[in-house]
Amino acid sequence: MSLWQDFLTNRGKAIHKWEHYFPIYERHFAGWRNRSLTFLEIGVAKGGSLAMWRRYFGPLARIVGVDVDPRCARHEEGGVFVRVGDQSDKGFLQSVIDEFGAPDIVLDDGSHKMGDIRAAFEFLYPKLPKNGVYMVEDLHTAYWLEYGGGVDAPESFINLAKALIDKLNADHGRGAVPPDAFTRDTFAMSFYDSVVVFEKGQAWRKAATETGGARGGRP
Ligand SMILES: C[S@@+](CC[C@H](N)C(=O)[O-])C[C@H]1O[C@@H](n2cnc3c(N)ncnc32)[C@H](O)[C@@H]1O
Repeated sequence: MSLWQDFLTNRGKAIHKWEHYFPIYERHFAGWRNRSLTFLEIGVAKGGSLAMWRRYFGPLARIVGVDVDPRCARHEEGGVFVRVGDQSDKGFLQSVIDEFGAPDIVLDDGSHKMGDIRAAFEFLYPKLPKNGVYMVEDLHTAYWLEYGGGVDAPESFINLAKALIDKLNADHGRGAVPPDAFTRDTFAMSFYDSVVVFEKGQAWRKAATETGGARGGRP
């Protein structure tokens, strides 16, 4: 069953998602189904999304939800774990990693405030394994003042992500942008309406290569 079908036929705990996210989830998460993975969702609310992820990823998946609201602890069930804390609290996030290991996938559906999104990303992204995926959703708030956003706001996560495009390409920047760990460890960044996705991956060699010869049939 596709995730979209699962969502539409859900009769269990409430799930709160924008409809156009489902093709994005499938694009970035489908390859992880029925594999052993740790999936961390920031923002538990009524618990329905954690249960959905468990159904989607299958019996080898460990689904971990974090939420600042202690009432969310009741959403623990088989294969689904909930820890209560603030996504901007590095000590709390470290305790989650100490308990469950670094997550393979992070989905930030938490406070949607710029400072919180950034704090969680800056702490967690470097800890993801080499093929990890980090997705931030509901980034329409990056344009909203009450969430610390604004089209020119330096704290906007969209503006942070725009700057990270230069880090992704820093090996070709002729010194203008110093390459760093993000350059080394990031394979791709994807932008959608309200969603940004970072895929980790290391290119051990970046080389432009020509194969075949002029007389070998190339025009
Ligand atoms: C949009 S809801 C999550 C919805 C859920 N993932 C779903 O799909 O049904 C956002 C959740 O983030 C939690 N939250 C708000 N601020 C937070 C913070 N600083 N750290 C962790 N969780 C936070 C709220 O308590 C709320 O339950």
